[in-house]
Amino acid sequence: MKITVVGAGYVGLVAAACFAESGNDVIGVDVDDAKVEKLTKAESPIYEPGLTDLLKRNLKNARLRFTTSLKEGVELSDIIFIAVGTPQDEDGSADLTHVLEVAKGIGTYMNGFKTIVDKSTVPVGTARKVHETIAKLTKHQFEVVSNPEFLKEGAAIDDFMKPDRVVVGVPSERAAKLMRELYAPYVRTNKPILVMDVPSAELTKYASNSMLATRVSFMNEIANLCEKVGADIDSVRIGMGTDSRIGMAFLFPGIGYGGSCFPKDVQALIRTGKDYEVDLRIARSVEDVNADQKLVMVHKIVKHYGGASQIKGKTFAIWGLAFKPRTDDVREAPALKIIGELVRMGAKVVASDPEAVETFRQAFKEHSQVSYAFSNYDCLNQADGLVICTEWNEYRQPNFERMKQLMRAAVIFDGRNILDRNEVARHGYRYYSIGRPDVAAA
Ligand SMILES: NC(=O)c1ccc[n+]([C@@H]2O[C@H](COP(=O)([O-])OP(=O)(O)OC[C@H]3O[C@@H](n4cnc5c(N)ncnc54)[C@H](O)[C@@H]3O)[C@@H](O)[C@H]2O)c1
Repeated sequence: MKITVVGAGYVGLVAAACFAESGNDVIGVDVDDAKVEKLTKAESPIYEPGLTDLLKRNLKNARLRFTTSLKEGVELSDIIFIAVGTPQDEDGSADLTHVLEVAKGIGTYMNGFKTIVDKSTVPVGTARKVHETIAKLTKHQFEVVSNPEFLKEGAAIDDFMKPDRVVVGVPSERAAKLMRELYAPYVRTNKPILVMDVPSAELTKYASNSMLATRVSFMNEIANLCEKVGADIDSVRIGMGTDSRIGMAFLFPGIGYGGSCFPKDVQALIRTGKDYEVDLRIARSVEDVNADQKLVMVHKIVKHYGGASQIKGKTFAIWGLAFKPRTDDVREAPALKIIGELVRMGAKVVASDPEAVETFRQAFKEHSQVSYAFSNYDCLNQADGLVICTEWNEYRQPNFERMKQLMRAAVIFDGRNILDRNEVARHGYRYYSIGRPDVAAA
């Protein structure tokens, strides 16, 4: 099939590469010249495991190419995916500026029947808006399909190639047949292609992300309660998750969810509710709990040092800047909030991350109190405390003795519960985590 994917970000780029990998002819379109130039040389502008290999292979065999020309992308393909960003607007709603700009371009350049597919996460009613926008500009026939994406950054290729399910909202049987054909290679293990009406598909994405965010916020509240009642969230989590009605996924407590999806999608769902006069109280609480949770470790830090005034002049090492491991994405990352608070109180911060230093530097802007270290050990020099913000695997079994020699004080604030409490205790650290009893220095 001839496919164009507009938007070469975390979703569009992965989708374009994976469609090409299954034998389709794919054009990736992006407005960002620098990005397209890099992609043309098979250099990935983002860190996503496996992506560079996929790009190299499919660029080489000419099944995939990139351009800044939407005109070319529209004229040469039959199926056009819209995979541009839908950031949060001031009132919480999804900002559809980019989506509708692309729709205008499609309407302007259409030269025959096209199937337009909304892959961006967009609120109910967007397919209709995209349809109206295009219809004003062309006499050609077309259909608009909703096909929300469920991939996870860090495992995006695998998620795209082997999804749990594919959700498509279609206006006709013709569009349903086309989507079934397109996705057939990805559901060979009998995973379903769920064909439904367009509003249901649009809502499924927001409802799914909000459900996952709800589990995270719920567990964070239970973790906070554990600390007060002397329970251990690890035991409670396993006790809960082994119930087959509950399951283990998304039960890990921490310093709050971040990323480009959960925060904005929960907000956008709340906004849709408001527009239709439905007060989504659970979603509102999920957001509130998450905002507070991003500060839980800051409160522990302040308490440990004896008050906010004592933070001034202290040096903190930070392990992990990305909102989760195996990505360089720092959008809404808890590290942004935590480092912001430490700096505000007058601390110095030396941060490290295996992939996200550059993206963090851009997001946080240059700051005289924040510097970056090449490795996680380099940032420990003369640190008064270590704060772990991302659960990268390489942080799980550190050399505690080496760390102690570097640090001014043996104190660890583990926002992701990745260290073994007994092991930390054995090495004589003061250790704080989430929902588990603190460890006193030996
Ligand atoms: N990142 C994820 O994990 C994820 C997962 C599922 C769904 N989504 C959704 O997918 C959509 C895209 O997310 P993302 O993370 O890939 O965003 P992103 O910001 O990484 O990428 C968006 C890309 O679109 C390009 N773009 C913007 N306007 C354009 C235009 N007019 N023409 C061509 N290109 C344009 C930008 O230059 C950028 O490269 C969002 O709606 C998001 O909610 C994201």
